[in-house]
Amino acid sequence: MKTNIVLIGMTGSGKSTIGKLLGKELAFSFVDMDAYIEETNETTIPELFAISEDHFRNLETKASKEIASQVDYTVISCGGGVILREENMDALKQTGWIFFIDRPTEQIIEDIKTDHRPLLKEGREKLYQLAEERMDLYHKSADFIVKNDSSLRSTLDTILSILKRQNIQAKE
Ligand code: S3P
Repeated sequence: MKTNIVLIGMTGSGKSTIGKLLGKELAFSFVDMDAYIEETNETTIPELFAISEDHFRNLETKASKEIASQVDYTVISCGGGVILREENMDALKQTGWIFFIDRPTEQIIEDIKTDHRPLLKEGREKLYQLAEERMDLYHKSADFIVKNDSSLRSTLDTILSILKRQNIQAKE
């Protein structure tokens, strides 16, 4: 049975913030996949990218499979590139409903912090290119698409109403 809620979307789209709040409201656990990768490998995302992006992506695939198979009733916030490998999404879909948090790139650019995001080290304008390359994959991977372009509260309410409509419930 699918009991997890998986948040995908561009870097800076609000997945972690929304995920933590959603977890609280549903009394679900919360896992941030990037933090999981850093903890289990005792290193940082920039250090993993310094080895190579492929090295990071391999660990991201491992994390997708481990988290998907080990947790239930959990909100999982994924790194922006998790959709790049079909096997990641296949694993996450086994146990979770996939929500694409869709925030306009113009809004992300206004407030994103780039210091710990190696893909943006040449500048935040790279976001436009990433969005173009990835948008189809986000749409293709998602069970539900939720705009995050006004208030956090309205985004949360949209997700909660989808969960209710689909009868996706918190643990008894
Ligand atoms: C990445 C996004 C980051 C992190 C890594 C790669 C990406 O996560 O996984 O730097 O490919 O978009 P956030 O989406 O949490 O920033």
